Amino acid sequence: MLAAVSKSFFYALSENKSLNKAAKKWGFRFGAGQVVAGVDIESAIRKVKELNDLGITATLDHLGEFVSSREEATESTDYCIKVLEAIAESGVKSTLSVKMTQLGLDIDQEFCFENMCRILETAKTHDLFVQIDMEDFKRCQITLDMVKRLRQTYDNVGTVIQGYLYRSEEDLDQLNGVVLRLVKGAYKEPAEVAFQEKSQVDDNYWKLIQKRLLEGTFTAIGSHDHNIINKVKAFAKEHHIPNDQFEFQMLYGFRTELQEQLVKEGYNMRVYIPFGTDWFGYFMRRLAERPQNVSFALKGLLSK
Ligand code: FDA
Repeated sequence: MLAAVSKSFFYALSENKSLNKAAKKWGFRFGAGQVVAGVDIESAIRKVKELNDLGITATLDHLGEFVSSREEATESTDYCIKVLEAIAESGVKSTLSVKMTQLGLDIDQEFCFENMCRILETAKTHDLFVQIDMEDFKRCQITLDMVKRLRQTYDNVGTVIQGYLYRSEEDLDQLNGVVLRLVKGAYKEPAEVAFQEKSQVDDNYWKLIQKRLLEGTFTAIGSHDHNIINKVKAFAKEHHIPNDQFEFQMLYGFRTELQEQLVKEGYNMRVYIPFGTDWFGYFMRRLAERPQNVSFALKGLLSK
């Protein structure tokens, strides 16, 4: 009961526009610095290098979402291009992750498509890959339509499928050949569109992973769940799926020992590294999905 209340509370905070705006000026608070890798490109690239030295690759995310003006969307697009250039110049092993609402999806879809093309053109020049994060259900279809349209010109783009949505199995079937990250799903969605029980989400997530691993296109398993990770390892062995056909992905600051252990065992491990001033919504979703993460916030408050 308490967990359900705190979940709803943090989801509501994550969507609060005034708090999101104010937090950009506060600097990191409540321990957010433990899961967000600094405010600028230099700090983010430093973190990527540290992880690369441990045999872990990265995907950089310049935090931002739900922008409401063309200026902001253009600024975000320019910044994403700078991140790609910084990855190329520094020679670190990293891809880029972006959110469509950061690039103007809610303002004008054609404008967002053009912004995405600019990003992919730069990525292509440097032989880099861009993953489009999946946001809330409202934006799922349009994101998938966008990915399909972009893939008519670019093959260096993929997206994310969320295990909690009823529709995901069908979506998966239509995305053979597209590099996907499979996750459980991080937004609060109603029972009309998404499984509500954790066991149902886990079951559907596992079903999607098995289907995808057997299908054969490169797949990322984005999860901190050791049960899922162990099942993937066993399934891959049983079905002779080579380690270079999949990778594990985790978020920066979470389960670092497990990340290193997986590398030692010979698995590909990529860490999603968010950075920038727009940390509030991202951080609140992390608190919502795992009550234990609130200890970050408490420790952060106590250290102030
Ligand atoms: P979950 O939170 O269900 O935990 C399962 C179990 O794992 C826990 O009960 C606990 O035993 C263990 N565990 C989990 N975290 C732990 C920790 N920190 N320490 C110790 N034990 C822990 N979502 C989305 O909607 N769109 C997106 O684009 C993305 N992108 C994305 C990228 C990457 C790289 C990751 C890892 C995740 C996402 N997500 C996402 C978020 C995702 O949908 C999901 O909300 C979170 O990963 C939480 O689900 P998990 O599978 O990690 O385990």
